[in-house]
This record gives sequence, structure tokens and C-alpha cells, in this order.
Amino acid sequence: MLKQLPADLQIDRLPRHVAVIMDGNGRWAKSQGLPRIMGHRRGADTLKDLLRCCSDWGIGALTAYAFSTENWGRPLEEVDFLMSLFERILRRELKEMMEEDVRIRFVGDLSLLPSSLQAEIAQSMADTANNQGIQFTVATNYGGRQEIIQACQAIAQQVQAGTLEPTAITEELFAKHLYTAGIGDPDLLIRTSGEMRISNFLLWQLAYAEMYITDTLWPDFDRQEFHNALISYQKRDRRFGKVK
Ligand code: FPP
Repeated sequence: MLKQLPADLQIDRLPRHVAVIMDGNGRWAKSQGLPRIMGHRRGADTLKDLLRCCSDWGIGALTAYAFSTENWGRPLEEVDFLMSLFERILRRELKEMMEEDVRIRFVGDLSLLPSSLQAEIAQSMADTANNQGIQFTVATNYGGRQEIIQACQAIAQQVQAGTLEPTAITEELFAKHLYTAGIGDPDLLIRTSGEMRISNFLLWQLAYAEMYITDTLWPDFDRQEFHNALISYQKRDRRFGKVK
């Protein structure tokens, strides 16, 4: 079941949920003398390998930051390429995701995505909804602040309608109004290419995540790199603000 889990990783100390900020595609492409979009294409292959690796090693959830609310500010041709890349990947990989029992979910304001992409997203989410394997979440047109605002609006409407008491607003209730409702918080956040930022990603959900930042550019983040991240994670003493 747990295919090839390296001997130095402890099954009972693996993160249950890994989140990734896939940074450095453009720089990788430049270093190879290629156009930026080739970095994204290679980055998508890297993500696929990581998803399979997480699944092989018994990690229950992987969340990837594919497109932020700020990424619309990139050159139009790059945005267009990314949108059509997401669409092509979904169409191409759906069969394999079904075979490998992956449950895919997209989070973010999906209403602003091209309608053909929205249709592929809806199809892939519906088809994989009852799968029992890894939960794969793709943040697309996602912004952490925007997610929190929309949760506040939904809750405020219930208070205004008289169906919710302000004192009934707990952390649990709030989390149920986030896009990620039902998915546990990430235990480990990986960011590639050396940037020390959260960049508006999962602001609420990352409260107690361990962070692993590597200089490796995303397209080069392979199984060995992930193994290194997990070794680092297993050395951490997670206290959640308490003393032992
Ligand atoms: C950041 O690198 C990367 C992105 C904004 C795009 C990430 C998307 C993928 C890897 C495709 C994933 C596909 C699916 C279906 C989820 P950058 O362009 O900011 O790199 P740079 O900092 O070197 O310029």
C-alpha cells in the first residue's frame, strides 16, 4: 500500500496534509534558455509527480497554489497559457485520477475563470467526489484575505437574518465557511525558490503549519527534495503554543 516509503521516514510522523507554493517556474525556464511558459509546463509535471508521491507514501491531502488573485496582473499571454494549461491537464488526467482514486477540489473564486475551464473543473470535481484516495486541492484565483471576507459575509448574513447568534461564531463554525471546509489544516507548507513569504495563501489554515523553504526552483522539486522536506518536518517539535 505505502509504496516505497523511505526507511528513514516514520509512518506515524508524516504530515497528514501538505501545502505547496510552487514558485520559481519562470526562473527555471530562464535558466534553461526557455520561455516562461515552459517553466509552468514543467511545473505541472512536478506537481503530478508530487501528488503521486504523497499518495504512495500515505499522505492524505495535498494542496497546491496554482493561481493567486494577484496573478491576473501577469502578461496576458502568460495568464492565457496558464488557464489553457489547467484545462488541458484536467481533461488529460481525469482518467488517471479516477484510476488512482484521487479526489480533486478547486478552491478560490472560480466564477472569474474562463467558462470552458469552469466546466472542466465542475466535471472533474463531480467525477472524483466519491473517490477514497488522496484529497488534492488546487487553489485557483485564490486569495486568503478574499476567502476570509467571503466567509465573514456569509456569516454576517445569517446573523442579520436572525438565524445565528454572534456568540455562536467559533473557530469551527468560521472554518466551515472557508473554501477548504472539510479538509484539515496543512501540517507542512513547502515553498520553493527561496522566498520567505506566505503570499496570501491559506492565511487562516496555516496558523500552525510547519514551514519548509528551499532554494530549489519548483520544476526541480523532485521526490528526493520532498523526502528532504519530510525529514526536516519529522525533526520539528510541534507544540501548538503549549509547553511540553
Ligand atoms: C509560480 O512561478 C508559478 C505559478 C504562478 C503557476 C503554477 C502553476 C503550475 C505549476 C501548473 C499547475 C497545474 C495544475 C492543473 C494545478 P513563477 O512564475 O512566479 O516563477 P518566477 O518567480 O521564477 O517568475
